[in-house]
Amino acid sequence: MRILVLGADGYLGWPTALHLSARGHDVAAADSLVRRRWDRACGTHSLVPISTMPRRVARWEAETGRPISWHRLDVCDLQALRSLIVTESPDAVVHFAEQRSAPYSMISAPHAIETQVNNVVGTLNLLFALRERFGLPGSKNACEQGECGSCSVLLDGELVCACLVLAVQADGHDIVTVEGLGDGDGLHPVQDAFVDTGAVQCGFCTPGLVVATAALLEHNPDPSDDEIREALSGNLCRCTGYQKIFDAVRLAAGR
Ligand code: FES
Ligand code: FES
Repeated sequence: MRILVLGADGYLGWPTALHLSARGHDVAAADSLVRRRWDRACGTHSLVPISTMPRRVARWEAETGRPISWHRLDVCDLQALRSLIVTESPDAVVHFAEQRSAPYSMISAPHAIETQVNNVVGTLNLLFALRERFGLPGSKNACEQGECGSCSVLLDGELVCACLVLAVQADGHDIVTVEGLGDGDGLHPVQDAFVDTGAVQCGFCTPGLVVATAALLEHNPDPSDDEIREALSGNLCRCTGYQKIFDAVRLAAGR
């Protein structure tokens, strides 16, 4: 697997990059190196000298024969990040490129603002972009950790958690949210089925379940009960049992 580690100069990023490389993955590592400036500003220094990234990468390759592709890059520079993702075409991204909240952010108000800007802009995910930038609030933000499925959307026809996709990763790709399932005038058959079976209580999980069901039926129009359970296993409902949701999927499949 090709894996991009953002924040690779950090105390988590570098060991993770080495671990993944040692496990046989092709690793690309990126960092702005700004952490070193933050540490100087705070007067904090490591007990042992930390080598430069080019030296670390060269030493790793000399020791193991495994190259790591190194990029100096600020994740807040979205154009540069987009270019990196196009260049490296990673199968997965590990994102450690956030700034510690203290003590740097406590030096002054401008330091606090810099920290906030860095950590918000540098981690802009697809869910945030859809809801806050494009005015599409159908996809819900519940866990922001890929655990609940409330943010499910279709990315080039594949079901993904929008909270786990960087906005720049989606640039140029086809995104369908729950708002885009219907034909404009009417509801999508899956939406109708959820209404008809009363498979909704607070509705927070419903957009994700509807998108996940639509994706399932697109690939498999007549799923078995086990296939329905498997397909919806990533979508959590906090209100109800799942029987009516299950009934809705069955109803939609039969229409
Ligand atoms: S908000 Fe994305 S999986 Fe929960
Ligand atoms: S209906 Fe409330 S979370 Fe599912």
